[in-house]
Amino acid sequence: MPSKNLAIITGASRGLGRSLAHQLLQPGLRLLCISRQADSELEALASKAGTELTQWQQDLAEPVVAAQRLSDWLAGFEADEFEHALLINNAGTVGNPKPLSVARAGDLSVALRVGLEAPMLLSSAFLAATGSWSARRKVLNISSGLGRNAMASQAPYCAAKAGMDHFSRAVALEEARLSNGARIVSLAPGVIDTDMQVQLREADPAGFPDRGIFENLKAGGKLDSPDAAAAKVLAYLAREDYGSKPVADVRDA
Ligand SMILES: NC(=O)c1ccc[n+]([C@@H]2O[C@H](COP(=O)([O-])OP(=O)(O)OC[C@H]3O[C@@H](n4cnc5c(N)ncnc54)[C@H](OP(=O)(O)O)[C@@H]3O)[C@@H](O)[C@H]2O)c1
Repeated sequence: MPSKNLAIITGASRGLGRSLAHQLLQPGLRLLCISRQADSELEALASKAGTELTQWQQDLAEPVVAAQRLSDWLAGFEADEFEHALLINNAGTVGNPKPLSVARAGDLSVALRVGLEAPMLLSSAFLAATGSWSARRKVLNISSGLGRNAMASQAPYCAAKAGMDHFSRAVALEEARLSNGARIVSLAPGVIDTDMQVQLREADPAGFPDRGIFENLKAGGKLDSPDAAAAKVLAYLAREDYGSKPVADVRDA
């Protein structure tokens, strides 16, 4: 009898999140994917793998709506239904890189709502709804080196990831006080050949002085494929010491 596990992942329609969702598929898994677009291939693959799949086309720029929807959905499960329960906050956006002095207020707000508010509100909803469950619980926040090292014209992205790192540290302290507290990590996933990198390479160089860094990463073959990056992230997630360092890098030994 396969174990029954729950996984929730945001931004599973493309890039790293899509590869994570595909690699998570297994018998007995209940999988919820949240992004604006659905992955048309995932339904058939999930059914073949024995995974029960739900895909929400939900804009995470409306994090309060998304978090309420998640709370309501999680309330439909029994406290002893799953052996493991996992939330992966993977969705993010670099928007259109430019200095803060010329950024549009609406774009800044979306970047912060998708990159920081949504992960925090979804984590809160997940921790509240599953707090009395018997399942072993994990939260994985997909961060970035840019949360730890600043870059010009990336202020909202840097701020969102730095905020993600630091709220993960705070939540790790909270959960450590509980008898079945969740383990939480904000993990930098390395550099990955996705649409996000295309956006960075194609940004207007007049407003983005470090564009060349991203062109060189691609030209130098330094980007992981989404599948390779997802395998590294899932290997980190499976580590025995997962949660011992709430802010980590997939390249940590
Ligand atoms: N690529 C890299 O080199 C790199 C490096 C460090 C960290 N990361 C982090 O890794 C994660 C995945 O990045 P990626 O490279 O795979 O990015 P990506 O290819 O641009 O994919 C982003 C994902 O986020 C979702 N998303 C974006 N805006 C959304 C919104 N408003 N509502 C709901 N979902 C939204 C997208 O789905 P929809 O468009 O369907 O909504 C998509 O599935 C991000 O957190 C990123 O910051 C990436």
